[in-house]
Amino acid sequence: MIIIVSLGLLAIILVINLFYNRRTKDLEERNKELMVLTAENTKAYEQLRNTSNLLIEANRKLKELDIIKDDFVSIASHELRTPMTAIRSYAWMVLHRSNVPLPDNVEKYLVRISISTERMINLVNDMLNISRIESGRIEIKPEPVDLISLGKDIVDEVYYSKSTAKNIKFILLEEKLPKIFADPEKLRQVFLNILGNALKFSSNGGKITISFFTDGRTIETRIKDEGPGLAREDLGRLFKKFGRLDNSYTSVATSGGTGLGLYISKNLIELMKGRIWATSEGLGKGSTFTFALPVASPEVIKHADQYFVKAKGEAKSLEPAAIVV
Ligand SMILES: Nc1ncnc2c1ncn2[C@@H]1O[C@H](COP(=O)(O)OP(=O)(O)O)[C@@H](O)[C@H]1O
Ligand SMILES: [Mg+2]
Repeated sequence: MIIIVSLGLLAIILVINLFYNRRTKDLEERNKELMVLTAENTKAYEQLRNTSNLLIEANRKLKELDIIKDDFVSIASHELRTPMTAIRSYAWMVLHRSNVPLPDNVEKYLVRISISTERMINLVNDMLNISRIESGRIEIKPEPVDLISLGKDIVDEVYYSKSTAKNIKFILLEEKLPKIFADPEKLRQVFLNILGNALKFSSNGGKITISFFTDGRTIETRIKDEGPGLAREDLGRLFKKFGRLDNSYTSVATSGGTGLGLYISKNLIELMKGRIWATSEGLGKGSTFTFALPVASPEVIKHADQYFVKAKGEAKSLEPAAIVV
């Protein structure tokens, strides 16, 4: 009996031993696998860290390049502007202050020199403005602005500078409006850009209407012309850099602009927490450009600091917008 019990116990011990041996082997296998995995993970982590370091370095270099590019545009533009201004002045002097009558063809060439130089100066000014905006070197200092009186000033400025030759009629629909909260210099630039475009693209004898709409929180300024209008597929392109459209009425050759005015306007309006957009019933049916800005309500004035934008580095004011007709 005792022998049988002992044998039984022995058998049980043997089975248990066998079982544990197998478990130990299994565990050893798993352990090996885990070690391989850990090694692989460590390697992957190292690779990730290296890639991340490379990305940080690439990013730093890109930022550096961006600053160099901005400086280059800024310096090149300044250096270009001085000689161009001299060319323009001398051409003007020969054209208007010469004691000797000029042969017709000389006069024609001088006029062309003046126009081309003017165009280059405008392009340089626009590029300087873009460089300032993109590198954050402008500041937004909003204050309550009376849109009607600003609108009147700008109509006068545009009208007396260029519109007489085209016999364009400006209509400013006056109404009682609250003031808006905007940076007057930047707003002026946008207004001039949009009104300048309306005038440039209007045909002789056209009408440009400026009207205002408000819901008490924002004021929309709408500038409507009877010019060539806009195709639906072009609406998205308008506000991009060099977003000139190819339709025959507003092509580069005819308009002589830079294709940067609306891009600058959009950036300025958005910096002032506003919106700008264009609508048109189609080609040949005129266009309406609208910008919306916040009303200078007590609530907005209370949170005025949210509307200020500080310049990164030294703040620069904008170069004047050109009115090209
Ligand atoms: N009032 C308008 N009517 C028709 N097209 C317009 C009008 N304003 C702007 N555009 C189109 O948008 C383009 C971009 O305008 P903008 O950025 O001011 O450049 P630019 O005036 O130098 O050509 C213009 O070239 C023109 O094709
Ligand atoms: Mg323009």
